[in-house]
Amino acid sequence: MASSWLFKSLLASSAMSSVSLASIPDVTFRGRASIPKISASKGPVYDRNGTLLPALDTVYYFNQLIDHNNPGLGTFQQRYWTTWQFYKSGGPIVLMTPGEANAEDYTGYLTTGAINGLIAQQENGATVLLEHRFFGFSNPRDNLASESLELLTIQQAIDDLAYFAENVDFLIPGGDQVKPHQAPWVLIGGSYSGALTSWTMVNKPGVFWAGYSSSGVVEAITDFYDYFTPIRKYMPAGCAADVEAVIAYLDESDAHGNATALNDLKSAFGLTGLSHIDDFASALRTNLFDWQKYQPSKEIQHGALFSQFCDALENVTGVVAGPSGRGLDHAIIAWGAFWKNTYYKSICGQENADDCLGSHDPTFGYYSDTSVNNADRSWLWIVCNQVGFYQVGPPEGQPAIVSRILQPTYAERECVNYFPQAFSAPRPPTTQETNAKYGGWNLTVDRLFSANGLLDPWRGATMSADGVNKPTNVDLQPVYESNGFHCSDLVTEYGSIDPTIAKVQAAGLSYMKTWLSEWKA
Ligand SMILES: *[C@@H]1O[C@H](CO)[C@@H](O)[C@H](O)[C@H]1NC(C)=O
Ligand SMILES: *[C@@H]1O[C@H](CO)[C@@H](O)[C@H](O)[C@H]1NC(C)=O
Ligand SMILES: *[C@@H]1O[C@H](CO)[C@@H](O)[C@H](O)[C@H]1NC(C)=O
Ligand SMILES: *[C@@H]1O[C@H](CO)[C@@H](O)[C@H](O)[C@H]1NC(C)=O
Repeated sequence: MASSWLFKSLLASSAMSSVSLASIPDVTFRGRASIPKISASKGPVYDRNGTLLPALDTVYYFNQLIDHNNPGLGTFQQRYWTTWQFYKSGGPIVLMTPGEANAEDYTGYLTTGAINGLIAQQENGATVLLEHRFFGFSNPRDNLASESLELLTIQQAIDDLAYFAENVDFLIPGGDQVKPHQAPWVLIGGSYSGALTSWTMVNKPGVFWAGYSSSGVVEAITDFYDYFTPIRKYMPAGCAADVEAVIAYLDESDAHGNATALNDLKSAFGLTGLSHIDDFASALRTNLFDWQKYQPSKEIQHGALFSQFCDALENVTGVVAGPSGRGLDHAIIAWGAFWKNTYYKSICGQENADDCLGSHDPTFGYYSDTSVNNADRSWLWIVCNQVGFYQVGPPEGQPAIVSRILQPTYAERECVNYFPQAFSAPRPPTTQETNAKYGGWNLTVDRLFSANGLLDPWRGATMSADGVNKPTNVDLQPVYESNGFHCSDLVTEYGSIDPTIAKVQAAGLSYMKTWLSEWKA
C-alpha cells in the first residue's frame, strides 16, 4: 500500500514533543472518542497588567440546571476552570468542554499549549474549560444508575453550554458582563465534544459567535466499521496484510464451525480461557484500537503499543517484512506470542480472560458499579442511546483487519449488561434522530471551523469523511484537514512537529480573527 510511507515519514520527520501528553490509560478496548490530555504547568499565571492570577487548576462551580426540561428540579454544581491571562475588556470568552472525561486532566487547554489559548492570546480573550454533565465530579445525581442517566442526553449537554454562557459570572474584572449579547463567545471541542460544538451551534443559534470543531464526529453512525479504514490504510502494509490473513482465517473457521481450528487459534494467543468466540474477536480488535494513542512525534514510536504489535508481527531480528507480510502461519505465531508474552498482562494484569475481555456475564460487578467519575459508563450511555459508533467488522467484500463476527449487536448486548433497567433487549441507538435533529454531515451553520486529520480513525464520521458534500459557504463553514491523528490540531506542539497541522491551526486562527472582528454587541 503506497500510503504507509506517509505514516512512517510523518513519525520519522517530526521534532521533539515537550507537551506532557498522557497516553489514554483507560480501558481502550471500549474505544472511546476522547481528545488528547494536556495538563497545565504548575507555575504562576499573570494577566496582561502583571497581576498574579489564581492558579490554572483552581476549580470554580456553576449552578447548572439539573433538567433543562424541568428547571423546577433545581441545580447541581458543574465544575469549570478559567484564566484571563490574555484578557482585555471586549475580548472573547473561549469555552471548551473536553466531553466524555473528567476535566481535571485537560487544564492545559486553558493555555497556549492548545488552540484555545492561541485564540485567547491573539484576540485578548479568556479561556474556560467546562466539565460535561455526568463526567468527573459534575453530576446532576450522585450515581450513574440508568434512572439518573436519563438526564444525560446530547440536548441536555447542549443546553448546559448555552445556559452556562448566558448565566455565568466570572471573577474577571467586568466578568459579570460578558454574556453572549455583551461579548463574543467561541466554542471549541474535539471528537465527541467537537461534534457537540457543531451541534450546539446548529441547535442554539445566536449563543456562540464562532466555533472550532476538531475531529468532530458530527454524523452518528451505528455500524461504524469505517473506524478501521484509516488504520488499515496507513499502518505498515505488511502488518495490515498479516492481520487480514489472521482475521480471514478466524472468520472462515467460525463460518465453518471448525471448533478445532478456533480452539487452536485461541490457544496460540493464550486465550483459551475466553469462552465466547465473539469476545476473542473483540480481544484481537484491541491491538487496532491502540492506533488511536498515536500523535505526531519526533521518532518512530517503538514504545507505543501499536508499534510493538506491528514490530512483533513484521520485524523479526531487525528485518522488516515487505508489503505482503510474512503470511498466515507466521502471523498467528507472532501475534499470538505478543499476546502471551507482553500484551495480555499490559491490558488485563492478573485478571482472568473472561473477566477482562468477556462480555457474556451480566452479573459481572463492573456492569452494576454506578459510582460517579466513571467515564466509560457515562460515555456508553450516550453511545447506546444516541450515537452508536460501534467499531465492528466491515461488510463482506471489504478487506477486514477486524473480524466480521463483530457486528453492532455485540455492543448492543453490552448496553443491556450495563443498563438493564433501560434496555430490556438489545436495540440500536437512535442515530437517525440524532442526525436529523443536529444535521449530521449536512449541518449548516455560520462561523464554524472544522478540522480533521487524515490518520484519524474517526475521520469517517467527520466533515472530512469521503463522499460527504462539503459545505457550500467555505468562508463561513471551512473544512480543513492535516496529516494528523485524532484531534492533533488542538495541540500547539503538534503544529511544531507537523507543518500540515501548523497550517490548519494558522487557518483556524485566521478565521477567528476575521469572524471576531465582525462581532457587534
Ligand atoms: C489592566 O489595566 C487597565 C488600565 O489600568 C484596566 O483598564 C484593566 O481593567 C486592567 N485589566 C485587568 C485584566 O485587570
Ligand atoms: C478445521 O481446520 C483445520 C485447521 O485449519 C483443518 O486442518 C481441518 O481440516 C478443518 N476441519 C474441517 C472439518 O474443515
Ligand atoms: C526492528 O527492530 C529493531 C529492534 O529489534 C529496531 O532497532 C529497528 O529499528 C526495527 N526496524 C524497523 C524498520 O522498525
Ligand atoms: C443529508 O442530505 C442528504 C442529501 O440531500 C440526504 O439524503 C440525507 O438524508 C441528509 N441527512 C440528514 C441527516 O439530514
